[in-house]
Amino acid sequence: MSPMDAVPRPAPPRINPLQRIWLREIGMERLWLRTPPVAPPAMAPVTARVVAPEAASAVPPASPVKSAVVPPASTAEPAAVPKPAPAAAASPAAEPASGRASAIPASILNRSGPPPRPAPKVEVKEEAPPPIPVAEAVKDADLEQLAAQVVACAACGLCQGRRHAVVGHGAQPTRWLVVGEAPGEQEDRQGQPFVGRSGQLLDAMLAAVGMSRERDVFITNVIKCRPPGNRNPKPEEIAACSPYLMRQIALLKPERILVLGRFAAQTLLGTDATIGSLRGRVHHLKTDEGAQIPVVVSYHPAYLLRSPSEKARAWQDLKLAARDL
Ligand code: URA
Repeated sequence: MSPMDAVPRPAPPRINPLQRIWLREIGMERLWLRTPPVAPPAMAPVTARVVAPEAASAVPPASPVKSAVVPPASTAEPAAVPKPAPAAAASPAAEPASGRASAIPASILNRSGPPPRPAPKVEVKEEAPPPIPVAEAVKDADLEQLAAQVVACAACGLCQGRRHAVVGHGAQPTRWLVVGEAPGEQEDRQGQPFVGRSGQLLDAMLAAVGMSRERDVFITNVIKCRPPGNRNPKPEEIAACSPYLMRQIALLKPERILVLGRFAAQTLLGTDATIGSLRGRVHHLKTDEGAQIPVVVSYHPAYLLRSPSEKARAWQDLKLAARDL
């Protein structure tokens, strides 16, 4: 390329046919009419439609890579301009974590869209208060309240298998308080103490010393619910239940207590001595009020039904209880 070629030259003037013949005559036609290899002005639109055929050949074709990455003019935007956030970003959930924007009310921000939903109500469940221990619950109860507490009691596992809790039944004022072990099957069914065969024998024994359960005697048990299969009550069941008996004693204020069987005797007297060593003499139970209630221990009627020969000893025990102590 000559230096001249690099210098942009103005387009040749338009000529008529006569001028063209004249130029040919003097040998200047080709020189005069040569198309200057001038690049199109930088700002001229570069599209196939507007570029003249001659000029189009002078424009290097766009590189395929470049044309692939150049977006269409209608959507092309300078890369530095961030795109507006999609609609979802306007929702409160999409607010920046800094909290600056969320501190500005939506009405001031003039955002479109539904108003922010109120925060869902969180239900605060009040925890059930821990159960009051039996000893605490019975402290000020009268006999009626005490009976209601026993019926509703869930202080040990025995409540799960019971049909009825057996509070006790009998005369008030109470001359004798008879204390057995725990309800059996019949008592669990009927909710009354000593209603089975043992109960019939007990009634006969009491009658022999002039006592009746309707007139003189209140009958109850150490345990108010039937242990499954009439098994022996467990220490934790005794511990849970015995406050009911203690409150019954405090409220009934019996003249004396007849305790039937080893289990009831050991529980009430707080000993692990054998029944043989406990019967035949008078014990005393000290109440919270300072009174001393005479206590006589005898065999359980269920044992006497199995061992009738022991009834003579039981008869001695009843006579001891009936004495003026
Ligand atoms: N045995 C008991 O010890 N108590 C009852 O109530 C019945 C049977």
